[in-house]
Amino acid sequence: MSHTSTILRESGEPAAARFVRHIRIDPHSSTETYPFSLPAISYLRRAGGLPLHGGVTFLVGENGSGKSTLLEAVAVAAGMNPEGGSQNYRFSTRSSESSLSDHITLVWGTEKPRSRFFLRAETYYNVATETERLGPDQVAALGGTSPHERSHGESFIDLMMHRFHPNGLYLLDEPEAALSPQACLAVLTRLADLVALRCQVVIATHSPILLALPGATIYEISDDGAIALTDYDDAQPVRLTRSFLSNPERYLRHLTSTDHSPDDV
Ligand SMILES: Nc1ncnc2c1ncn2[C@@H]1O[C@H](COP(=O)(O)OP(=O)(O)OP(=O)(O)O)[C@@H](O)[C@H]1O
Ligand SMILES: [Mg+2]
Repeated sequence: MSHTSTILRESGEPAAARFVRHIRIDPHSSTETYPFSLPAISYLRRAGGLPLHGGVTFLVGENGSGKSTLLEAVAVAAGMNPEGGSQNYRFSTRSSESSLSDHITLVWGTEKPRSRFFLRAETYYNVATETERLGPDQVAALGGTSPHERSHGESFIDLMMHRFHPNGLYLLDEPEAALSPQACLAVLTRLADLVALRCQVVIATHSPILLALPGATIYEISDDGAIALTDYDDAQPVRLTRSFLSNPERYLRHLTSTDHSPDDV
């Protein structure tokens, strides 16, 4: 990890990279079946899509709110493999991607990314297998050790440290799934460095640590599917974690009694 953290750099930096400026969804797509029936996708269809800001954009929302569905469709629309990987990864172990990417248009800026990668925590094992199959160059690009010979978290850190280059477009689906809190802090630093290296990164996450990245945009999907910008302090993973940690006993009392609703969350 770089010792020259850029987390606190605030002035004199070039504008953050913004390769993809807008995610548009075909307003005439069906509304009946998955993924179009998801409230978040329905909302985006009505709202004319989602503008993306430069640098890092986070997507937060409850389990099942549609973050992965959206991120995967963006990845496919940007030429990446739905199971994860770069443009060179074309494997499919169990095709489950939705048809959303066929109905998404990415509005690109004038500058194109020099590198792309889609990391999805749930299928990274398959990406690792494909990396080995593609040969030593792909393994070398990850730092020289096959992800199968690294721990889950180590393999994610290898990827972000070695495979992510300047001027890249990176989509990450719950990178914290493999990471300790300490490693999340390391990734936070790496994300700040990637922004300074003119990368654009879109991340679906539940991690209150990653969300703390200064200057990042946070979109929250609410229960009715509406997607709105939120501040760090108001983001649900931050509010709930902060509230829990400030008084775990109160939560445990409620969760182990018949009343399952701490009232001031
Ligand atoms: N192939 C599929 N067919 C039908 N429904 C699906 C399919 N994949 C996902 N869903 C449903 O779509 C909804 C959104 O799933 P998605 O994986 O996008 O949620 P998410 O926001 O990423 O959740 P999590 O935080 O748990 O990762 C879920 O209710 C899920 O059951
Ligand atoms: Mg998901």
